[in-house]
Amino acid sequence: MSIKLKTPAEIEKMRIAGKLAAEVLEMIEPYVKPGISTGELDKICYEHIVNVQKAIPANIGYHGFKHTSCISINDVVCHGIPSFDKKLKDGDILNIDVTVIKDGYHGDTSKMYIAGKPTVAGEKLCQVTQESLYEAIKIIKPGLRLREIGKTIQKYVDKFGFSSVREYCGHGIGEVYHDEPQVLHYDADDGGVILKPGMTFTIEPMVNTGDWRTRTMKDGWTVKTKDHGLSAQYEHTILVTDNGVEVLTLRSNENFPRVIEH
Ligand code: CO
Repeated sequence: MSIKLKTPAEIEKMRIAGKLAAEVLEMIEPYVKPGISTGELDKICYEHIVNVQKAIPANIGYHGFKHTSCISINDVVCHGIPSFDKKLKDGDILNIDVTVIKDGYHGDTSKMYIAGKPTVAGEKLCQVTQESLYEAIKIIKPGLRLREIGKTIQKYVDKFGFSSVREYCGHGIGEVYHDEPQVLHYDADDGGVILKPGMTFTIEPMVNTGDWRTRTMKDGWTVKTKDHGLSAQYEHTILVTDNGVEVLTLRSNENFPRVIEH
């Protein structure tokens, strides 16, 4: 396995793509309300990326996917297909996942939203999932074994009686959307990968209230929890720096440092 180390010029392009992807998630927030359809949310994201950002929505045409975003509600783990028939209901939790290409480089990020009044269970799951991502980002530095990321996430969510999905993983990213390495969100063999400055990859834990197992629907995309429990996901694209980590898709209203130095 060869993991590409980005040059300073490439890193600068990754910063721009990452910032644009983060801005889409901020832009869409006020629209996420009971009654709006996921198709409408997707359309707003598309128009913002294409017309305002002059960038490319990476998901359109990816293995035949027709939409800008994946929007995954309640027991949908990931890859939910936006639809004008699917309207948000009060208390729904949903993940919006977007990838933007600018100047040939990808920025990939997702976050959870709650439509209307949150339920206790929904809010708790979203909070713990975001914290698990933060716990993993905090330990990143050159020399760290890749597997420590998954180990940290699994250990954190297990404490709350939740489970970390195993079938889907984070990924290297740059000019290529889904590159090496695979970033698992549970403790498993990482093939001996050691983090090095210049690596860029996503961390995107999917956390279930019940069992980690999933099933894919007949549409070939939508992934749901097998036990019908709720699922949440947060995703950032990160850069391993000389002494720590930089979060390339940090949002301006996010309560987390952009750069951590160890
Ligand atoms: Co991703």
